[in-house]
Amino acid sequence: MKKVLITGGAGFIGSHIVDKLIMNDYKVVIIDNLLTGSINNLPQSDKIEFYKNDIYKDDIEFIFDRERPDFCIHLAAQTSVAYSEKKPVYDANLNIVSSIKILELCKKYNVKKYLTASSAAVYGMPKTLPITEEHPTKPISFYGISKLTMEKYIELFNLPYVIFRFSNVYGPRQFSSKESGVIAIFHDAMLNNKEINIFDDGTQIRDFLFVKDIAQIVLLTIESDIVNKTYNFSSNTGININKLFVMMKNLYRYNKSPNYLPPRIGDIKDSILDNSQIKSIFKEFKNTSLENGLKELYLSKIC
Ligand SMILES: NC(=O)c1ccc[n+]([C@@H]2O[C@H](COP(=O)([O-])OP(=O)(O)OC[C@H]3O[C@@H](n4cnc5c(N)ncnc54)[C@H](O)[C@@H]3O)[C@@H](O)[C@H]2O)c1
Repeated sequence: MKKVLITGGAGFIGSHIVDKLIMNDYKVVIIDNLLTGSINNLPQSDKIEFYKNDIYKDDIEFIFDRERPDFCIHLAAQTSVAYSEKKPVYDANLNIVSSIKILELCKKYNVKKYLTASSAAVYGMPKTLPITEEHPTKPISFYGISKLTMEKYIELFNLPYVIFRFSNVYGPRQFSSKESGVIAIFHDAMLNNKEINIFDDGTQIRDFLFVKDIAQIVLLTIESDIVNKTYNFSSNTGININKLFVMMKNLYRYNKSPNYLPPRIGDIKDSILDNSQIKSIFKEFKNTSLENGLKELYLSKIC
């Protein structure tokens, strides 16, 4: 049985990857400090080893030494653009310094492939839509800078890697921080009949990626020969926030109107990522539609 070590495996994206891997007979080792993740996101399984550790503060070499993973998926991070503006040192320590620490351990313990999550934030303000991998990278937030810097370290580390630049991810188990994850924020507010704030005028376009699509693409990537590549992964379909609000309002039968607030520093106006490179490799892969993904999210909380 192959072993995959996942940092941040108890989080939103990580826990869906864990589900997919154990269904496909992998052993999974998770390192997570449970800051935004939860043990309740994880299934009960003897295929999971869980370590409650902090990848920045703790010495985690003993885990690599004991577990000797075949693959590593590094997801633990500071994930919010807005928080990176408030706490740039924390953002850089976690997203850059801790990522280097994980890379060094992967190299020392001969990990066969290292996968990680980067972001559309590395591109900054798009010059053209959809954004291809060749688009210039000019981040306008500290989060975008820390993710891009992490990418640069990976490229020089001489360790087989695949980097995914994800668009806006949504789905069951997303932690709603009030600062990021617009669908999770709308979902919580609509279920609890609370007020909703929209930053800017709501015409900004985003590309929403269903979390289970990531789990599928990660599994395919681990099982493929692909190495040393950086891919966008997205739905390649844009929708503006006002239209998203109406779609969700109808589904959740929510009847309040949103409050409009000024735009936030570091937020990109429009973003759609071109995913044709990765889809040309995994031709059988089909994205979940936003309608179906939202229905699944809605049903996950009311069942
Ligand atoms: N959600 C999105 O829309 C999105 C988009 C692009 C990229 N990403 C990236 O995907 C990855 C996963 O994001 P997510 O949305 O699942 O977020 P998440 O907050 O749900 O997951 C992060 C996990 O890392 C853990 N963690 C945080 N700090 C840690 C530390 N110091 N030590 C150990 N564990 C720690 C948290 O407890 C959590 O379980 C991140 O790298 C994020 O930057 C997410």
